[in-house]
Amino acid sequence: MSAIRADSPRPYFNLSINNEQDVGHAVREARREAYLAGFDKANIFKLCTIVAELCRNMLYHAGGGEFVIRHIHSGNRSGIEIEALDHGPGIADISMAMQDHFSTRGTLGIGLPAVKRLSDEMHIESEPGKGTVVKALKWL
Ligand SMILES: Nc1ncnc2c1ncn2[C@@H]1O[C@H](COP(=O)(O)OP(=O)(O)O)[C@@H](O)[C@H]1O
Ligand SMILES: [Mg+2]
Repeated sequence: MSAIRADSPRPYFNLSINNEQDVGHAVREARREAYLAGFDKANIFKLCTIVAELCRNMLYHAGGGEFVIRHIHSGNRSGIEIEALDHGPGIADISMAMQDHFSTRGTLGIGLPAVKRLSDEMHIESEPGKGTVVKALKWL
């Protein structure tokens, strides 16, 4: 399921992430939204990488979740916010999860640190047993 709200111009796009195809769909939507917002090629690529890492994490570590893109405005700045929300097992120690090469699954462990480096602001909230919300923001 996906929907583009009509109450203001293209405020957000959301998508359930349940398989690899959904991750591809999310990345393509992010690429399009970033292009429409006026991001240059390098930053479009960075946003796509953020989306791929966060969506794969939901799929792999939480069994799926919800992905949202928002166009944001603050004063004379505008940008794009990516949100990944799941009801999976949560992250027991967020500061450990943010370390390079830390993984509870024997995988690369570079996804969350990469999201941090590629975004202007990143915020993680997680409660073990309840789920995880990661927000990453990029200004134009
Ligand atoms: N959505 C999530 N739900 C639960 N745990 C997560 C989630 N995203 C990340 N994690 C935890 O954070 C760790 C680091 O994530 P990441 O840097 O993307 O590396 P990797 O996905 O390769 O393990 C993961 O191994 C996992 O323990
Ligand atoms: Mg990962």
